[in-house]
Amino acid sequence: MTDKELHISKIENGTVIDHIDAGQGLNVLSLLGIDGSDGESVSVVMNFVSSLVGSKDIVKVQNRELNQDELDVLSLISPQVTINIISNYEVSLKHRVQRPDCVSGVLNCPNRNCITNSNEPIESKFNIKDEVISCEYCGTHIEDVTQHLA
Ligand code: CTP
Ligand code: ZN
Repeated sequence: MTDKELHISKIENGTVIDHIDAGQGLNVLSLLGIDGSDGESVSVVMNFVSSLVGSKDIVKVQNRELNQDELDVLSLISPQVTINIISNYEVSLKHRVQRPDCVSGVLNCPNRNCITNSNEPIESKFNIKDEVISCEYCGTHIEDVTQHLA
């Protein structure tokens, strides 16, 4: 490594979300509801150039093991991400994400008149079937998930 290269530190404990489509790193944080307000240490690497996959984003969240349910939602924006759970600097678990059947509270319904956009305390819920994402309450479809992050 020369002084012109950027060294991206390994983490001691936590979760590394790797192989994120380039440009989707911040959307990954939005989908997971991570904004640093819990004091966790978060690194986002954008447009990391790798000889294998070209350009990718990487998110590293220290001292937090994200669970499979909260991670599966990432398949909506970047299906090929890999999740690495890090313990004591080693990758202790590596897995992929799977398209969930439904997601709650992470997307907003595009329909202004939907009950989830009213003053009622109703959490959004979308069903996912055959690549179609539709509102549980009004049936409206979401075409581009990144435009409707809660
Ligand atoms: N990583 C990290 N801190 C560690 C260990 C790994 O931040 N203590 C990161 C690596 O930088 C990499 C990811 O976790 O982005 C996966 O690590 P590893 O499995 O060692 O890398 P690869 O074998 O290249 O992963 P893959 O086969 O999934 O591409
Ligand atoms: Zn709706």
